[in-house]
Amino acid sequence: MIAIICAMQIECDAILKYCTSIQKNVLFNRTFYEAELAGKKVVIGLCGVAKVNAAITTTILCAHYDIQAILNIGVAGGLKENENVMDLVISDQVVQHDYDTTALDGEAGKGIWVKADQDLLALAIKVLEPMDVTYHVGCVASGDLFVTKQHLEKLLHDFPDAICAEMEAGAIAQTADSFHIPFIVLRSLSDVAVKEKSAMDFMEYVQIASQKSAEFTYRFVEGY
Ligand code: ADE
Repeated sequence: MIAIICAMQIECDAILKYCTSIQKNVLFNRTFYEAELAGKKVVIGLCGVAKVNAAITTTILCAHYDIQAILNIGVAGGLKENENVMDLVISDQVVQHDYDTTALDGEAGKGIWVKADQDLLALAIKVLEPMDVTYHVGCVASGDLFVTKQHLEKLLHDFPDAICAEMEAGAIAQTADSFHIPFIVLRSLSDVAVKEKSAMDFMEYVQIASQKSAEFTYRFVEGY
């Protein structure tokens, strides 16, 4: 089955709207929704915010279910001038931007990197082409930090190719990788950190951006 992981209930609810035959299953205090999406069996894990939560939920999910692919969906913060709220962002790789052992390892100690699965990436682009949406494919920067304008200079200095920031994908990617399960991020922008007061944009756009990501995820699973 396909696993879908979201951090927040609002992101989960957006994808559950597309699902049928939903059954809630609580494992080790974590909530999973077993369901059908576009005629395929899926399990949706609600992981909570940030990397440790994401790693715990992904580990339980991979150990308990027979998973063929992991999709991390929901919202993210844009980092670049050419990005706008509601744009879709797709990972070709994920980096944990708050991992730093440069004091010991030099430049090699910056970030933990995991590449997205090439077949999932090709499918994402195929599904996106006929959709009337703006999308960005690139490096998703993941860390235990809500990124705003004040963080941008350092983040983009260290990871100039990053297209967005979020707080779970790095942990999900690393866990998926250790279970040899293909992984990709399919998110939508709720805020863009180059703009002033982006945290307020998050409040305003989190629901509608969650819906955008969910709609895309539905089409992706349909094409899987
Ligand atoms: N998720 C949505 N917006 C974000 C941001 N600006 N930083 C980190 N995670 C986010």
